[in-house]
Amino acid sequence: MKQIAPSILSADFMNLQRDIQNLEHAGADLLHVDIMDGMFVPNLSFGPQVVAGLRPLTQLGLDIHLMVEQPERYIAQFAEAGADLIMIHAEATQHLYRGLQMIKDAGVKAGVVINPGTPVSAIEPVLSLVDQVLVMTVNPGFGGQTFIPAMLTKVTELAIYRQQHAEITYTIEVDGGVNDQTIGACAKAGADIFVAGSYTFAGDLATRIATLKQAAHD
Ligand code: DX5
Ligand code: ZN
Repeated sequence: MKQIAPSILSADFMNLQRDIQNLEHAGADLLHVDIMDGMFVPNLSFGPQVVAGLRPLTQLGLDIHLMVEQPERYIAQFAEAGADLIMIHAEATQHLYRGLQMIKDAGVKAGVVINPGTPVSAIEPVLSLVDQVLVMTVNPGFGGQTFIPAMLTKVTELAIYRQQHAEITYTIEVDGGVNDQTIGACAKAGADIFVAGSYTFAGDLATRIATLKQAAHD
C-alpha cells in the first residue's frame, strides 16, 4: 500500500494545530517531521518540544527526519516526545549502527537516510536492522527544491535487495521534489512512502493528497 507523508515543513507554523488536523482529515497517511540543526543542513526548523505538542493533536504516525549532526544526542528526547519512527542520516554519525540500535532500544522504529551523494552500498551493513530507508531526492535542508531523477536507481536497488533477502522488511521512502509529475516514477522504482511538502500545501489538501495517491498507482 502506497502512503503519502506530507512534510509539515511547508505548514503554517503559526497555525500548526489547524494544519495537522486538516492533513489528517484530508487523507494523509502519516506526518513527516523535518528536524534541522543549522549544521548538518544550512537551515533551522524546530525541536522535540514541538513534536511533543503535536503528539496529542493527531492519530497519525509521526516520522521524524533528523537532519542533525550526531543525532544520537537527541534520540531519547524525540522518542519521549512521541515519535513513531526516527530516521538518522548515514552521513551525520560515526556510529550509524549504534545510533539505529539506540532508536530501537528506545522502543521506536528506526530509519536510515542517504543524501543524494551517498550510495546504497554505504548502508548495506545496516539494512537488516532498519524499519525504513529514506532516499533523499533533493539535497536536504529546504522544501520546494527540484527532484533529482538519478536517485531512482537507488530506490530500485533497495527494492531488489529487499526482494532478494527474505529477512528484510524495510519500507522505502522518498523525500524531496515529490509532486504529481514525479511520484509515478518513484512508485515504479519501488518506493512505498512519498514525502510531499510544498506540493501538498500549494492547493486544497484533500485534492492534492488524492492526486498524489492516484498518480502513485497509475
Ligand atoms: C528537505 C526535507 C523535506 C522537505 C520536502 O530537506 O527533508 O522533507 O520538506 O519538501 P518538498 O516536498 O517541498 O521538496
Ligand atoms: Zn524530510
